Amino acid sequence: MTKEEKYQELLQEAEALTAGETDEIANMANLAAAIYARFGFHWVGFYRVCGEELVLGPFQGPVACTRIRYGRGVCGTAWKEGRTLIVPDVDQFPGHIACSALSRSEIVIPLTRAGAVVAELDIDSAELDTFDAVDELWLTRILAAAYK
Ligand code: SME
Repeated sequence: MTKEEKYQELLQEAEALTAGETDEIANMANLAAAIYARFGFHWVGFYRVCGEELVLGPFQGPVACTRIRYGRGVCGTAWKEGRTLIVPDVDQFPGHIACSALSRSEIVIPLTRAGAVVAELDIDSAELDTFDAVDELWLTRILAAAYK
């Protein structure tokens, strides 16, 4: 099965899992579990914007940093810049926050509402250069389907 085919199925699963459920935390929990189960990434989870910080939300994988300040690390930078960040080698990203020593590459996709970032989907891979524009496209679609 290609990556695109896996994402196609995942999109349908995400739509089914979140249909009729308005609780954002519940939907984050099931989305993190669905992505993690399908791809086996090292870590899949959400950070929520709470005032001046990102605060850890539902996730699957090893324990993680609970708070990340605006502009810090990959997550805080994606929030500040209001755009998806794909990091092929986290050791080359200045200020990367190593919640897990096994993380090698990362993608962070902001979830925006009325132009403001309200949360982020963060995925870590234990391998270098895991994420590309295909992941960005499909994960963005999945977030859009879950948070209409
Ligand atoms: N690596 C992230 C921190 C979050 S963990 O990957 C779960 C960062 O640099 O923002």
